[in-house]
Amino acid sequence: MKVLVTSGPTREPIDPVRFLTNRSSGKMGYALAGAFTHEGHSVLLVSGPTNLDVPANVDFIPVETAAEMHDVVSKHIGRMDIAVFAAAVADYTPATVQPRKIKKSGDTLALELVRTADILGSARQPFGFTGTLVGFAAETENLESNAREKLIRKHCDLVIANDVSKPGMGFDSDQNEVLLVYPGRTESLPAASKHELSLQLVDAIVLLSTNDSQPLTNHRFPMTDLELATQAALEAGKLIRQNFGSDATVDEATHHDIKLALDKESQDLITGILLGARPGDALYGEEGLAGNQDSPRQWIVDPIDGTVNFFYSIPHFCVSIALRVAGEIVVGVIHDPMVGETWTVEKGGPAMLNGRPIQVSKREDLAESILYVGCGKDEESLRSGIERFHRASLRARKMRMMGSAALGMAYIASGRIDAYIESRISLWDIAAGQLLIESAGGKVELTAVPGHADAWSIVASNGRVPLDEIL
Ligand code: PMT
Repeated sequence: MKVLVTSGPTREPIDPVRFLTNRSSGKMGYALAGAFTHEGHSVLLVSGPTNLDVPANVDFIPVETAAEMHDVVSKHIGRMDIAVFAAAVADYTPATVQPRKIKKSGDTLALELVRTADILGSARQPFGFTGTLVGFAAETENLESNAREKLIRKHCDLVIANDVSKPGMGFDSDQNEVLLVYPGRTESLPAASKHELSLQLVDAIVLLSTNDSQPLTNHRFPMTDLELATQAALEAGKLIRQNFGSDATVDEATHHDIKLALDKESQDLITGILLGARPGDALYGEEGLAGNQDSPRQWIVDPIDGTVNFFYSIPHFCVSIALRVAGEIVVGVIHDPMVGETWTVEKGGPAMLNGRPIQVSKREDLAESILYVGCGKDEESLRSGIERFHRASLRARKMRMMGSAALGMAYIASGRIDAYIESRISLWDIAAGQLLIESAGGKVELTAVPGHADAWSIVASNGRVPLDEIL
């Protein structure tokens, strides 16, 4: 396969004798280039300045600045099968380069810096790269969630995350320890020399690139219903995230609710992915029906749960997708595109958050609990919700009214909050969350609201906190 690897730091000149740079020896990228070649692949290494020897049989293009690296990558990436971005590219460069050495004058010196182009972030668009895209994330905190955020934002198939605050790891060192952050799951590779680690990384990347059954990549046909639902949720999440903070087109506004054009756009995207892969299925979403409504297989979709939060730029909303087969929910996915958290579950299997099993909380005492009481959208459920909220607030440690039922249920499944109560909610808000909570050891009680198809009153909890007295 043809592989492009970026490596090393970039140097951003200030004047003929000074530059800004990032810490990077280039060892990680060079080791990867060597490992790909060792495994028989054809490698182009694009690197900023380092003291290393170019590995044997590797094509090499040296660059100095981020702009040069951007130009070289844009020119060559189109013919590659795999692109791995290990370079520590400067995020800022001086607005102007002084033609002569800046003379000392005064105690301070202000430099105006401007953003460099995001090379990895340009790979899919505008470069149009459709191969396997692998980024690195050099982090000093929140390693996995920051890497997952980059995975989504930069449209990667894999982000290799290293904690560069750990002594002896990451920058300069001969050793590294990494997390492999894929859409929907995370794996860790223990500390090893960059050489040994690179051989493992090459295996993982080549597998990703060649294995058609590999789940959850951005551009391959997923095999299982869970993988398919996860891919649809991640793609919709990407769309929603890209639009966050910009002016949204309002399709409909009522006193207590808002519908956006983006709700519909997100559902259309999800419908295309789900029914594109499973053309005989039915889809029942907040934005309407699609597919074969006689099918026993029905996807239940909330394309943005928490639209009002989204509209007011409150970063708490999600995509919720469930699959119901012959009346039973068998798959559930809830994806929070802002935090980069994805909950997944299959009937009979464990509830997972970003690929790790989760459990509801063990709290049994209301006085230690956090309760989410929703108030609905109509006058009656607002009234009953407020009365419950009042009763519960006198007993619980804290109350929350977060604005996304599905995310609230995912939080119960993860043991973050203990119960969610609402007197009227739609099936698409709760279908995935119900399977998640039950699979994580909790309990969900639904009571049909008379006269309304698929509207429910819900009491969802860890199954331990006593709720009768506040209902
Ligand atoms: O070179 P070594 O001393 O061996 O150290 C290895 C390393 C720590 C540099 C390497 O393992 C690593 O983490 N490289 C990425 C460093 C980095 O800049 O990460 P980031 O989180 O800032 O960037 C995220 C991703 O976007 C990276 O794949 C980076 O190459 C890419 N990027 C960033 C900015 C930019 N303008 N263009 C980019 O392509």
